[in-house]
Amino acid sequence: MGVKILAIETSCDETSAAVVEDGVTIRANIISSQIAVHQKFGGVVPEVASRKHLELLNGVIAEALAEAGLDFAGLDAVAVTHGPGLAGALLVGVAAAKTLAYALDIPLIAVNHLEGHVYANFLAEPALPFPFLCLIVSGGHTDLVFSEYHGNYRLLGSTRDDAAGEAFDKIARALDLGYPGGPAIEKLAEKGDEEAIPFPRAYLEEGTFDFSFSGLKTAVINYLRQAGEQGSPVRKADVAASFQKAVADVLVEKTFQAAVSCRAKAVLLAGGVAANRRLRALFQLYADRRMLPVIYPPPVLCTDNAAMIGCAAYYRFLRGDFAPLTLNAFPGLPLGEERY
Ligand code: KG4
Ligand code: ZN
Repeated sequence: MGVKILAIETSCDETSAAVVEDGVTIRANIISSQIAVHQKFGGVVPEVASRKHLELLNGVIAEALAEAGLDFAGLDAVAVTHGPGLAGALLVGVAAAKTLAYALDIPLIAVNHLEGHVYANFLAEPALPFPFLCLIVSGGHTDLVFSEYHGNYRLLGSTRDDAAGEAFDKIARALDLGYPGGPAIEKLAEKGDEEAIPFPRAYLEEGTFDFSFSGLKTAVINYLRQAGEQGSPVRKADVAASFQKAVADVLVEKTFQAAVSCRAKAVLLAGGVAANRRLRALFQLYADRRMLPVIYPPPVLCTDNAAMIGCAAYYRFLRGDFAPLTLNAFPGLPLGEERY
């Protein structure tokens, strides 16, 4: 009889509930995407997201339990993302989790959304080695995190301006590809030449593991504007492919530099952008050359989902690291900081 945790994730635009057993077995992982609702606005509208979470969450939880073949009495704990994310959206999940923990008299576990992204890798590879270096690339974050044991995080670098996913979304908008931008750029890039346009790569000053994507973003937008002014045809697929390669080059170069400098035993990828196949292939190539394993979750576990929260929660469960029923949501919660 394993430890069965119901996990809830409502930090952005996916309403998700999962049942994860012993941190490894996904008994259910229901993800109800609100993408269609937000698409007509060209991005996530926070108020709309909160309202949708409220409408969807009970049904999504019921579906997760049904798929796991469990009722509420079969649960050992309930876990929830309490930050970072959209305040109103987070609060819906936090309120639901607190209610369940109180009513069922089981422990409540608070999980940092970024920690969840990191732990999606433990679902893919439960025996992954410490210390590891994880590149978290999502819509709001581009972080290099070093970890020596469960629950331990040291931030080695992060973006000074746009997050990698944000850059994908903004360039997708400039190319009229709609929201969310990452998957649309990846698809279009398959038909393009990634060497066609030499967009800049910002490696910043020697020794830093920080990132910057705003220069690249401006370069792409200027390229499109100049082409428009000159009336010259733009091969959007070449723009998408060249942009994607510029992002991937910087991410892979910096990550492996950092991995070597901190003597990591493995490199992990996490977050929505980690679903990108070009990025994964480039990381695999570097890893093979350096004999350093690279681990990445399957795409469905890279983008927001509750299974990753259930996995991270399991290690907190083992440590007896439970949250009080007064738990709050923290939109700007940093990784590694415990706030209730
Ligand atoms: O982790 P995530 O689902 O949500 C956040 O926590 O932000 O990441 C969403 C981000 C979006 O910016 C989206 O465009 C990007 O991940 N993304 C991708 C791909 N799939 C999602 N970026 C590049 N290639 C993809 N295949
Ligand atoms: Zn996320």
